Amino acid sequence: MKKIEAIIRPDVFSAVRRALALEGIDGLSVTEIAGCGRQEGRTGLFRGNAYEMEFSSKLKLEMVIEDRLVEPIIKSILEYAATGEVGDGKIFIYPVDEAIRIRTKERGAVAVY
Ligand SMILES: Nc1ncnc2c1ncn2[C@@H]1O[C@H](COP(=O)(O)OP(=O)(O)OP(=O)(O)O)[C@@H](O)[C@H]1O
Ligand SMILES: [Mg+2]
Repeated sequence: MKKIEAIIRPDVFSAVRRALALEGIDGLSVTEIAGCGRQEGRTGLFRGNAYEMEFSSKLKLEMVIEDRLVEPIIKSILEYAATGEVGDGKIFIYPVDEAIRIRTKERGAVAVY
């Protein structure tokens, strides 16, 4: 299993959500975050004075999925989250040791459906 963490623009969320649903993703966590990439959050200089640039508001999606779904999910996110402008976000992939559905005590891939 892997965890996919995708940081995306809030306005592409419904398109990404729909694409993920078509790939069979039902379980998903979404968090509103304030982030900065290469352009935001830097200390800028205006007329000799340093100032903090703005953080931008993004959504962080987290989903734990079976390994075989990783590439199709990445493809969907890349397709629906990209505008081509700076600030489109990032995707990070982590290994997941275990998943447990608390109600049934099921473990492993069955627990993430
Ligand atoms: N290395 C990182 N680790 C964790 N979060 C990050 C990282 N880089 C970017 N982010 C998150 O992703 C959001 C969007 O980043 P962004 O797309 O601007 O990245 P970038 O590297 O500046 O790429 P681009 O040049 O396309 O803007 C940020 O607001 C932040 O929340
Ligand atoms: Mg950026």
